[in-house]
Amino acid sequence: MLVVANWKAYVEDAAKAKKLFAAAKRLAAATRISIVLAPSAPQIGLFALKNVSRVALGAQDVSEATGGPQTGEMTAAVLNSLGVKYVIVGHSERRARGEGDALIATKLERVVAEGLTPILCVGEQARDSEGSYLRVIREQISSALAPLSPKDRTRVIIAYEPVWAIGKSAAEAIQVTDLAEMVLYIRKVLAELYPGKAGSDRSLVLYGGSVESDNIRDLAGGSRVDGFLVGHASAEPATFSALIKALA
Ligand code: PGA
Repeated sequence: MLVVANWKAYVEDAAKAKKLFAAAKRLAAATRISIVLAPSAPQIGLFALKNVSRVALGAQDVSEATGGPQTGEMTAAVLNSLGVKYVIVGHSERRARGEGDALIATKLERVVAEGLTPILCVGEQARDSEGSYLRVIREQISSALAPLSPKDRTRVIIAYEPVWAIGKSAAEAIQVTDLAEMVLYIRKVLAELYPGKAGSDRSLVLYGGSVESDNIRDLAGGSRVDGFLVGHASAEPATFSALIKALA
């Protein structure tokens, strides 16, 4: 299982960031869970270069630009040079700030070109009885993967994050049967976009949206999900430890 801790802008203090990193290292050493920490960008510099632990570092976003006269941009090459391995692309909180499918597709290309692993976030705003949310997911995945070669497509991790479930509590997260259905659906969409059918089974599908210690085990056990993208519950050492222990 893979757990990606998306600290968002919850962790604004370097001492707390260090505590969380230390906790993650202990948890990764004590369990078989792969942990990726995605701190706020400058905090990556606190850890990434000298990191020799089992915990990997990820970025919460990346620029669509490549190097040069691009004031304020954080390029995939900079992240790569620091030892970052994963990059979250197209998070709904970035989409809410105006990022569209074309920009997200370019960002994905930049990440892949640097040899980093992209985590593509997709998710509907709301559910409806006609199933049009399924079309939203299909469109988000296919437009983002379209520019990539068939082989590179298989390197993209998909994080299914329904917007209606983000930032709430375990009780308001997705139900396990709905998650199982979505994971199957996403694999079906991927199978259509991949060179061979086998590819869609190899690539990872994560879930995010109010994953807490109260629901992580049920969600993992009752669906074919490969891991989780965790926001608020990853931003405190105690809640993050409880979450990892619940899953382990
Ligand atoms: P949440 O956030 O766990 O706080 O709901 C998840 C995410 O947005 O990645």
